[in-house]
Amino acid sequence: MSHQEENVLTAVGDAEIDPKEREQVIARRAKSRVRGLNHHAYYCTDGEKTRHFYEDILEMPMTIALRIPDEVFTGKQAPYCHFFFEMGDGSSIAFFDYPDFFDGEPPFTVPTVYHHHIAINVDSDEAIDYFRQKLESEGYPSTFVDHGAFHSLYLRDPNGMNLELCYSPPASDDFFLRAGKVAHAELKQWAATRA
Ligand SMILES: [Fe+2]
Repeated sequence: MSHQEENVLTAVGDAEIDPKEREQVIARRAKSRVRGLNHHAYYCTDGEKTRHFYEDILEMPMTIALRIPDEVFTGKQAPYCHFFFEMGDGSSIAFFDYPDFFDGEPPFTVPTVYHHHIAINVDSDEAIDYFRQKLESEGYPSTFVDHGAFHSLYLRDPNGMNLELCYSPPASDDFFLRAGKVAHAELKQWAATRA
């Protein structure tokens, strides 16, 4: 087991899992008013390059592209395009091409995954490897980290946004159940001891 895997897996302990706890998780999710990610929106510096990255490389079909004449909150004339790439659960990663706010170079960058990143589920380790090779051949380097519960491929999209392609193997179900038992206590402990 790698150091990183060990860190993540031992952080939630190794408490026994009662089979009823799986049902409780399903029930908890079923009654949540917050149903899931609809879309995440980010700025875009090059519409076609962004479309190529999400639609051709990551195989997420572009399902919406809106050309809007006015700024949404002020009504000021400021045309922009807002476009969406769909994932397998119906949620999307969306972009704004908004010349009045940003044109050409990104107005800000996201230095590391610790500042901001968006993680996208993929369906297998094979998919991680498939996309790693495809991204590499298109000039997008990536870094793979096995966290145990998450097999993660980190990379940066054409707009400077950090992305994580993520696969959680079935064996990580127990990790999530254990994590749920201790999450509040762990955060409290962190707050009490944070330097
Ligand atoms: Fe992450």
